[in-house]
Amino acid sequence: MGKFTRFKFQPCIPIGDDGRKITGSHGHVMLSREAASEGMVLLKNDNSTLPLKNGEKIALFGKSTFDFLFSGGGSGECYSIGTQNVYDGFCEKQAQGKVVIYQKTSDFYRDYVASERRRIQSENLFGKHGKEIWSMPCSVEREEKSQWLYLNTTIPEPDVSEMAAEASEFADTAIITLGRFSSEGVDRFPVKGDYYLTDAEEKLISDVSKVFKKTVIILNICGVIDMENFADNKNVSAVLVAWQPGMAGGAAIADILCGDVTPSGKLADTFAKSHVFYPSNDDFTHEYYKLKFHEDIYVGYRYFETIPGADKKVRYPFGYGLSYTTFSFENIFAHESNGKVIVALTVKNTGSYSGKEVIQVYYDAPQGKLGKPALQLAAFRKTKLLAPGEEETVALSFEVKSMASYDDLGKIQKSAYVLEKGDYHIYVGNSVRNLKKADYVYTAESDIITEQLTSRCVPFELDKRMLSDGTFEELSMGEKSVYYGENSSLGGKAPEKVVSFEKVGEEISLDDFIAQMTDDELCEMVGGSENTGVADTSCFGKNKRLSVPSVPTADGPAGLRIRPDREIPTTTWPCATLLACSFNEDLIYRVGKAGAKEVKENNIGVWLTPALNIHRSPLCGRNFEYFSEDPLLSGKMAAAEIRGIQSEKIAVSAKHFAANSKETDRFNCDSIVSERALREIYLKGFEICVKEADPWTIMSSYNLLNGTHTSESYDLLTGILRDEWSFGGMVTTDWGIKNNPVNEVKAGNDVKMPFGYANELKQALADGNLKRADLEACVKRILSLFLKFE
Ligand code: BGC
Repeated sequence: MGKFTRFKFQPCIPIGDDGRKITGSHGHVMLSREAASEGMVLLKNDNSTLPLKNGEKIALFGKSTFDFLFSGGGSGECYSIGTQNVYDGFCEKQAQGKVVIYQKTSDFYRDYVASERRRIQSENLFGKHGKEIWSMPCSVEREEKSQWLYLNTTIPEPDVSEMAAEASEFADTAIITLGRFSSEGVDRFPVKGDYYLTDAEEKLISDVSKVFKKTVIILNICGVIDMENFADNKNVSAVLVAWQPGMAGGAAIADILCGDVTPSGKLADTFAKSHVFYPSNDDFTHEYYKLKFHEDIYVGYRYFETIPGADKKVRYPFGYGLSYTTFSFENIFAHESNGKVIVALTVKNTGSYSGKEVIQVYYDAPQGKLGKPALQLAAFRKTKLLAPGEEETVALSFEVKSMASYDDLGKIQKSAYVLEKGDYHIYVGNSVRNLKKADYVYTAESDIITEQLTSRCVPFELDKRMLSDGTFEELSMGEKSVYYGENSSLGGKAPEKVVSFEKVGEEISLDDFIAQMTDDELCEMVGGSENTGVADTSCFGKNKRLSVPSVPTADGPAGLRIRPDREIPTTTWPCATLLACSFNEDLIYRVGKAGAKEVKENNIGVWLTPALNIHRSPLCGRNFEYFSEDPLLSGKMAAAEIRGIQSEKIAVSAKHFAANSKETDRFNCDSIVSERALREIYLKGFEICVKEADPWTIMSSYNLLNGTHTSESYDLLTGILRDEWSFGGMVTTDWGIKNNPVNEVKAGNDVKMPFGYANELKQALADGNLKRADLEACVKRILSLFLKFE
């Protein structure tokens, strides 16, 4: 097929085997199911309640058994057909003789959910803004948005105490599914029905668990919730975090509960005993416009494992997750070679089920002058499926310099990464709390500067930040300074006759091609063009005179997002947090590759995924779209996904760059964060992606960063992204921001979506506030992207 044929003519040409469609195909649904079962995390399994015995009688409870959440809302939602909820999953197992379902509770919940949905529709409980919370204008009152969140509990848990007693005479095991929805555009609330259980949910757990011999809770959740009701509750025997597991999520849950798959997911976030224990809490719940990241680098486990006394606030630590089998880690060997720390060990399955284990390597660094987290993840690897008694020798490595810290104040050397003098210990285990110290120490004899950088994105309103002993150091505040670099003209020469874009590389160089574009055409090109095709997020590019195609984009990350009214069901993949909990880069690569095939088959060129903002607070409404509180895990997972997607010659758009960890007033919210926390936490995942996976595009974010909109930040988009990290791709804005288009072009934000502000740019050219060379630089990056498509 010709280079841009798919974009131009939108043909219906399937790319699956034997000429069949691959979008939503059986193979993809099965991969979605496999991925779902790899990232679910077993938190509790008293007396080996799970796996269920063959033929076990079970009763299903909880409205989420049927009102199941396959994904969250916003760009991270998807339309699929043939979805499998928890009931569907167990029906499959019943047909195989693995369980017997007590039908009465299932019949009751199915009818109840259907009639409640009818009621909600007829009473128009979703209000005047229609169904899509994420597209609500910012002017909508927070309270009104918060009512929306009660979608979580719009269908309340009914009283089933009598039915539970009756069911317990038939079945030994009750399986309660609890759900939590969240969406782009709104944050979660630390209230009952969101972070906390409702009274009705607590009553459900109590009514059921006191009459059943065994009660299993399935958490079909968008992010961390309060676990205190059931973590120590002796009547609750097992708890599985299933996240929002994609279209085959119910089947994956049944796979795990029936023992067809041994759970191997590990938490990508710390579950604290209360939302108030997260160090971002005060600022996150009370501030809307100026978020001061006072906790600095002490995010997630870096806080809970370091700050004195914080360890007691943890319910389930980072990296934690149970298996049906047990593993031993033997012959742990670590050494340094060529600037890398190599860790090798033998992992043996010492139990009686087949299973996979996640090996996690952490380091500690000397406190020195900068102060350090007690432990930091350095590398991880999931084993293959090990049969009982089977062993695998695993080798992992990481660069010595990745243990360095960023000195933003010049305590040792300003704007440099420094390996402070002293001993660095290496630990190996299967959670941040279950580690063996390797018999090896890396010693820095003196302070070593591993990288000299430049001061960028400097905060001027951050008054203090947390240190490793829990105290705060005062910071000096200053004035906002703005700088835009100078672009020189590409120096192309316009040919005498007009040469079309298809001929670039053959008859004309890209610079000469751009030289034949008029100023107006350049101004048009740096704005998105009207939507074509099946998705709804508009296109990059388009110039009819010069035959530049328009390249359609579509969301991510849950799958290829095509609206239901277009009647093209696609595969819903598990949410990003679940994928991160798999700690399985190969699996994520496969998910990315399969997703990209659906994107290609539907004639779209750019998939607006992955999203890798850091889980700073459990209350961020988009956490389900993001991977983790840890930047290494986020970066590695995103890089694996990017490699998978781009292997199909589909562009990614790694988003939202950067420090976009809150949804409330997201267009105006300023993330005020130290350079160190930026470098070590909020930018690190993006840095890993850029250096390891070369994303073809990056999406700047809605929020401001230290007083500047990220799409207007030269420091961020040119200084750090391009000059320091050598990013060679294109930058797009997030959709619909009203930031200054002239500043965006100067900053290196190449395209404004979903449409541009050509008139403002033309005016700026006329006024001398913008140079043709600035526009040429952006257009060159846009067209270079187009040349990568096959
Ligand atoms: C979201 C992006 C998304 C875009 C296009 C924005 O509201 O923040 O993540 O890709 O819309 O749908």
